[in-house]
Amino acid sequence: MRRAVRFVIALVFGLGLLTWAGSVIVHGTTREWFEKDVSLRAQLAVSGARRGLVANWDQQHVVELATLLSDIAHDERIMAVAACAADSSLLARTRDFPAELSCASMGIHVRPDPEAPAAAWQTWNSVVELPGGTVHVSAIPLLETERPLGYLVLVHDLSFVERRAEQTQRYLLLAFGFLALAASAITVVAARLSWRGWSNELRRILRSGGHRPEFQPILRDVHELVGRIAAEGDAEREGGMWTPQRLKQTLNRHLHGERVVVLANREPYVHQRAEDGRTSVMHPASGLVTALEPVMRACSGTWIAHGSGSADREMADRDGRLRVPPGEESYVLRRVWLTPEEEQGYYYGFSNEGLWPLCHIAHVRPSFRSEDWKHYQAVNEKFADAVCAEVDTDDPIVLVQDYHFALAPGLIRQRLPRATVIMFWHIPWPSSQRFGICPWREELLEGMLGSSILGFHTQADCNNFVGCVERFLEARTDQEQHAIVQHGRSTLVRPYPISLEWPARWQQGALTVEECRAGVVGELGLAPDALIGLGVDRLDYTKGIEERMLAVERLLERFPALRGRFTFVQLAAPSRTIIEQYRQLNERVEFVAARINERFGKGAYRPVVLLRAHHEPPTVFRYYRAAHVCYVSSLHDGMNLVAKEFVSAREDEQGVLVLSQFTGAARELPEALIVNPYDLDEASSALVAALNMSAEEQRDRMRAMRAMVAEFNVYRWAGRMLVDASRLRSRDRLTGRLTDHLMVAAGLRP
Ligand code: G6P
Repeated sequence: MRRAVRFVIALVFGLGLLTWAGSVIVHGTTREWFEKDVSLRAQLAVSGARRGLVANWDQQHVVELATLLSDIAHDERIMAVAACAADSSLLARTRDFPAELSCASMGIHVRPDPEAPAAAWQTWNSVVELPGGTVHVSAIPLLETERPLGYLVLVHDLSFVERRAEQTQRYLLLAFGFLALAASAITVVAARLSWRGWSNELRRILRSGGHRPEFQPILRDVHELVGRIAAEGDAEREGGMWTPQRLKQTLNRHLHGERVVVLANREPYVHQRAEDGRTSVMHPASGLVTALEPVMRACSGTWIAHGSGSADREMADRDGRLRVPPGEESYVLRRVWLTPEEEQGYYYGFSNEGLWPLCHIAHVRPSFRSEDWKHYQAVNEKFADAVCAEVDTDDPIVLVQDYHFALAPGLIRQRLPRATVIMFWHIPWPSSQRFGICPWREELLEGMLGSSILGFHTQADCNNFVGCVERFLEARTDQEQHAIVQHGRSTLVRPYPISLEWPARWQQGALTVEECRAGVVGELGLAPDALIGLGVDRLDYTKGIEERMLAVERLLERFPALRGRFTFVQLAAPSRTIIEQYRQLNERVEFVAARINERFGKGAYRPVVLLRAHHEPPTVFRYYRAAHVCYVSSLHDGMNLVAKEFVSAREDEQGVLVLSQFTGAARELPEALIVNPYDLDEASSALVAALNMSAEEQRDRMRAMRAMVAEFNVYRWAGRMLVDASRLRSRDRLTGRLTDHLMVAAGLRP
């Protein structure tokens, strides 16, 4: 209704403006016409009286001349007449001749050059403003054969012209006004009728299922859109916890249960052959795997990864496929084989000696080598081909994971332009200044922008990425949509903080906290009342393991009462061991641990227990439960799922988390004791505070952190990305189809 009123106002205003302009033009034109008419009449009047005028044109016949002038002035519009001699002296005039007009003032117009011949005398017409009103003056020469006698001045009253013009203007305004109102009324009524007709027709078609074939595509879209909007509304309203079932439903509802294809370098199950010839399956130490595996169980689909285990080939079929998890078989693992050279260049070289240190502020210099870059490009191509081989539609949903595959989104987009590619970057994203040192920075950014959605853990990472694009590429940032637009395509850049499955899978049938603690105490030969600190990491320089050891050393220096009672257990999974920096770290950690044990160890007591080995998740889970305090001291970490795993393992609501401020997790878990891992005094103070914390305070903090991890679990993480992807897909499909319909309707496409 409001829209109709606005429309009528605009229409009336527009027409009013038009009317005003029209009436100004009409006024000018009528006036011009009347002036011409008056000049013509003056000529006619003089021609009619010419003979009498010539006969009486001298001083002796002024009486007759005056009579003749009065006769001419009988015409209702002629106001006054005067007869002027050739020398511009007045011969005769009617009574009303205006005093402001004189023969002399008009003579110069009639005979501009007094010497000129009679033929050069000319009629002069003009409109003159007098105090009594506007008049039209015609000065007309009177010739006898070739001899000029003088001229006659005829004054016409022009007020009637004004009156007529005003009248016309008034009529015009009225007519246009009426027209404007009539047009608005007709348009509004017509629009309402056709809208009603259109919606009735649409309703009818929707109800009857749409039998006319030409409506089928658009109907499908409308059904889809309406259904989706309703479903989104339901999902929002449902609220509550995200579970595997809810994620599955989301996939069914929003994406018609389409299969998801995950591309990640690390595989969720690695088959290894032991020296005794037996094959075992291993869960690799990888935050990415920990988070993504439950998502794949819920969604099913295919996980494409590097087949890195020594027994991987024999456990897979000819195409590198096998169903996992072992015994449950809910999705497909597709292994891609790499040559040793490819693994060296792409994985160890470019990914882990180049991008990994580039993205982490951990004081290790990135190395960029052209041979590594070539392998990185080739392997990205290889995996993009594998993705295309695994999909069964031309618009699949592909989840590309992490820094190993920065080029894959662009390569997949080239092969499958309609694919929905969601890329998630599991590690931090550096500032543009830092990123700028990579020789292939533009190529990496371009590749990533092949994604439909680009996810990072934090808003700060998103901002850094956008900063890099603005600095190094020709692309537009859409601040409102949080998107980057390039080559007419947009990529949403959003934070999706990653998390864990909830509840933890390993919780089922797990031992109680007391049993776990007793088990660990027994295994490690600790005193029954030992206070246990715990660290769980891959042996990686970003994790701050050395700094953690130093903080333990400082703790024992500052608080001697803890000597003999406190033991710090470090589970350290060997990682990327052929890289020099990792080897050196290994040695340094071992050295520091040995030094602390030497300084503060006594008899069987060792303050640091360094367990350098791969530990399967149930073992790690047992340690989480046994610990009094867990210290996560990363120097820089995208999220750090160890912090969340510790929280998820503690349903007894006891245990304290000491957490580095340089992790993404610190933003979500403020109830942890947040520390700067470089500040050994602060870290050791936090450790002692944790060991002395009352059970009540531990419970309050742990309860809050558990609520957070439970609610913002990994199903929610995946669900949010998939819902965003489904919105993009419906938008793209609708715009695509609508364009198709319009092209067909316009005859531009058959
Ligand atoms: C980090 C990366 C993962 C990687 C994991 C283990 O969490 O973000 O992509 O899988 O480290 O590293 P690795 O090199 O053993 O796969």
